[in-house]
Order: sequence, then C-alpha cells, then structure tokens
Amino acid sequence: MTMLSADFIALEQALGAHNYKPLDVVLARGEGVWVWDVEGRRYLDCLSAYSAVNQGHCHPRILAAMVEQAKKLTLTSRAFRNEQLALFYEEVATLTGSHKVLPMNSGAEAVESAIKAVRKWGYEVKGVPEGQAEIIVCANNFHGRTITIVGFSTDPDARGGFGPFAPGFRVVPFGDAAAFEAAITPNTVGFLVEPIQGEAGVVIPPAGYFKRVRELCTAHNVTLILDEIQTGLGRTGKLLAEEHEGIEADVTLIGKALSGGFYPVSAVLSNSEVLGVLKPGQHGSTFGGNPLACAVARAALKVLTEEGMIENSAVQGAYFQQALAGLRSNIVREVRGRGLMIAVELHPEAGGARRYCEALQARGVLAKDTHGDTIRLAPPLVIGREEIDWAMEQIEPVLTGAV
Ligand SMILES: Cc1ncc(COP(=O)(O)O)c(C=O)c1O
Repeated sequence: MTMLSADFIALEQALGAHNYKPLDVVLARGEGVWVWDVEGRRYLDCLSAYSAVNQGHCHPRILAAMVEQAKKLTLTSRAFRNEQLALFYEEVATLTGSHKVLPMNSGAEAVESAIKAVRKWGYEVKGVPEGQAEIIVCANNFHGRTITIVGFSTDPDARGGFGPFAPGFRVVPFGDAAAFEAAITPNTVGFLVEPIQGEAGVVIPPAGYFKRVRELCTAHNVTLILDEIQTGLGRTGKLLAEEHEGIEADVTLIGKALSGGFYPVSAVLSNSEVLGVLKPGQHGSTFGGNPLACAVARAALKVLTEEGMIENSAVQGAYFQQALAGLRSNIVREVRGRGLMIAVELHPEAGGARRYCEALQARGVLAKDTHGDTIRLAPPLVIGREEIDWAMEQIEPVLTGAV
C-alpha cells in the first residue's frame, strides 16, 4: 500500500510527541534549493532546515565524502584518535582564524560546552571566586533547548514548566550596550549573544553595538561568545556575521551548516586561553569529533568556500531583499535581513504569519513563521536569480492579497 501525506501525518500525530507544529508537507527528496513531497510536488525550500542546509540539499561533494568515510570508519570515540580529526581542526581553525577547536554534535551542546569552558576560565584565569561566575545573555535569545539554556531564555514557551534552572545568568536587552555595561560585575566571565537574533525574528542590532560590546568585554576581561550557529557559515553573506561588525569574538559557536545538513556537527572555536582550561576527563561526547562527522564537515566547509556560496549569499540576498522591499503590500511592516537571512515582518492586523506560510506552501514555497508576525526567508545559499524571481511570483500574490 502506498502511503500518502495524510497517512504519514496521522501516524506522526498518533505516535510522536507534539513538540513541533510543522507545516503539513511530507518531504521525501531534496536537491539544491528544491524539495519534493511524497506525492511528487516540488517546493522551493526557504528555510534550509534553520540554516543547516546552506550548501543546498544533498550536495554531491558532501554526499561523496560521507559515503567514502562511512565505508572506512565511522566512530572510534575519543578514547582513540582518528585520521580525520586533526585535519578538521586544521581546516576549520585556518578558515576562521581560531587557535583551538572543540568538536561537538548539536548546537545546544556547543553552547553548553562554551558555558562550561568560560566558567572554568573565569575561576582559573580571571580569578572569580568559586561558584560565583556570571554570564550575561540577551532577552529574546535562542541558544537551544537544554535545561541550562532554556533556563536563561525569556520565552515563556521555551522555559515554562521546566525549572528549576541553573543560576549564574543575567539577562539584558539585545542591542543596548549601556545595559550590557551596567550588568557587568567583577564576576562576569562571559557575554553570550547572537550577532543577529534568528529565532526572535531576524533582529539586527543597531550599528556600532557590537563594536562597543567588544570594547567593554576587552576592558572588563569578559569573554565575548558569539553564537553563530545560525548566522555563521555564509548565511549573512560573510563567513561569520561578526565580519559585518568589524569585530572578533573570543569564542565562536558554529553548527548547523558545518555539515551541510548531513549530520549533526558543531564546534566551539576559541583562542588558546579559554578552551585551554579543559583537561582530560572534564568534558566530552561519544560522537563529538568522530571521523564521519569530521569528513562531512571538511567537505561542507570546502564546498561553501570553493563554490562561491558566501559571495552568492551576499549578492542574491541583496537582490531578494530589494525585490521584497518593492512589494506594494499593506500587510508588510518591514523587510530586513543580511545576505540570505531575511525576515518579512507583517503588521499585527494581518492575523499572524502562519496563514501566509500555508498560502505560500500551496504555491510551492516553504517558509516558516517565527514569533507570530514574521515570515523568515532563508533559502540555501546556492539559490540563483531565476529561482528568486520565481519565488517572488509566488510571494507577491500572497502578500498583496491577490490570493
Ligand atoms: C543561534 C542558535 N543557537 C543554537 C541553536 C541550537 O542548535 P541545535 O538545534 O542544533 O541544538 C540554534 C538552533 O536553531 C540557533 O539558532
């Protein structure tokens, strides 16, 4: 019996935890910017798995690297060494200008790892009294779903009912350097912040914010931890979003597109001082740094840089944003973004972004609403002009009330 979309959806509803409310599209295949559902309908992917598929779906070079490595060796654990890990370190460190690398799997694990390392650095290097380390975070942050991380979320859905939470975090408004300065104490060890708040709705801070934050972190010996898990690896038209601000973080977190969507791979990148505090037995992961992950990540980084995807993100992102800004729609409040990380914010009277995402789905464009009134558009970085033109032909009638 052939199963149709409705059958898969019913089965999922019956057996799965309902911790997501996906669009009712059941995907079976992907190639580049396109995905197909089980009935063979084609869609333009404008989410890219929350920016994990920056290189496009099933990129052949990453696939080949994965298959080749999977035939040789997949997992050794870190009890032994493997021939891919050192090369992954070398390539990612050279590309990003980092001194030390800690490989993990999911984004949330990279965030947790950074919190551990920075606290330990605070005690051993900065001289903070034991148990007193504080990390400053921003309101409306999104850094993942573990207990520690949701404990410093300000989103009631993310944190409600999951306490008690870990202490040691202070929340300040995003984009307000004076508020950040006021929150710094002698026990502040780190400032964990997204260069652009992705899940909050592609929120771009005011010009000069990060320059000032960098100065304050340096002046007060506070580690600047930039969570580039979503903004990094070409999404904003630069390798790292920090480049738009003309600053360098002390610790950078990457994940998602580090594997081109093939496998969960994340990493903490830092100078020697911060990751240098971790000694054998103090941190680890069975799968972190495994040869399959490293081979996939090496290929994903090569593809990103050698195939001009970062430049394409800048060029096509500007084109897409310009086209969206030109829409004559009375429901669109603002179009904003950097590179191919784009948000279309609707007026509250439009009745929420979800219904427009469903209308776009019916026309073959998959996009995700975020925070009620915002449609996020973040296609794979391999998108071309013709595909953006085609997307606009679908988006225009939906946002101008023609359908
Ligand atoms: C900025 C940021 N940090 C961390 C995460 C968590 O990554 P993961 O879902 O791989 O744990 C995400 C995921 O959306 C993210 O956008």
